[in-house]
Amino acid sequence: MRKKIVAGNWKMNKNLQEGIALATELNEALAADKPNCDVVICTPFIHLAKVSEVIDHSVIGLGAENCADKEKGAYTGEVSAEMVKSTGAEYVILGHSERREYYKETPEILKEKVLLALANGLKVIFCIGESLAEREANKQNEVVKAELEGSVFNLSAEDFGKIVIAYEPIWAIGTGKTATSEQAEEIHSYIRSVIADKYGKEVAENTSILYGGSCKASNAPELFAKPDIDGGLIGGASLKCADFKGIIDAWK
Ligand code: 13P
Repeated sequence: MRKKIVAGNWKMNKNLQEGIALATELNEALAADKPNCDVVICTPFIHLAKVSEVIDHSVIGLGAENCADKEKGAYTGEVSAEMVKSTGAEYVILGHSERREYYKETPEILKEKVLLALANGLKVIFCIGESLAEREANKQNEVVKAELEGSVFNLSAEDFGKIVIAYEPIWAIGTGKTATSEQAEEIHSYIRSVIADKYGKEVAENTSILYGGSCKASNAPELFAKPDIDGGLIGGASLKCADFKGIIDAWK
């Protein structure tokens, strides 16, 4: 059975002290009221080592929001997958639309990052999703398929099993505009069918596919009730313990 996951993506928010406070608060809240799903928080690099010490990793997984496309060496300012892993983190988000758009990360660069993350024992939350113009042109299926083919369909079935997919329509990120649960289910089911065509039905059935884009406690229950939506990747609503816990509780 595939995992149900609620993952937070803090993006470039929270200084170190604020981040530790949020992680500590969430850890306490989930110790008092055990979640019914896997919970992951993905934080800026500088938070990882400290946050790793304050959370119970059997309840909250820890992830980075990015890693380098090079193994090590003279790449000033970069953080390698090995460094991420050494903090105690278990996950890394790759392919987020903000990285693709603002930092020009291409499918080839992302392919390298995915390989390095897996080689260093990290699980990858791989993001895919179309822009508003692509949705209006009814190209969303084409776009998500190409994103999978471009960066993760080179993997063996065993390695693909370490990938969590996050479908995040760009037009729904931070806009308050959520895909309807029907729209999300339609494309999640399509994504699963593309994975089945490539790796077979069993692998596809075991792949967790998360929805991201203005997901909050009020709309999470309807989204998570759909058969192909296995949880969420949460931006804004992961920055307050009560908001994030509200989404986690949607699995109850
Ligand atoms: P919001 O939840 O703020 O829309 O962000 C979604 C996202 O990009 C998570 O990676």
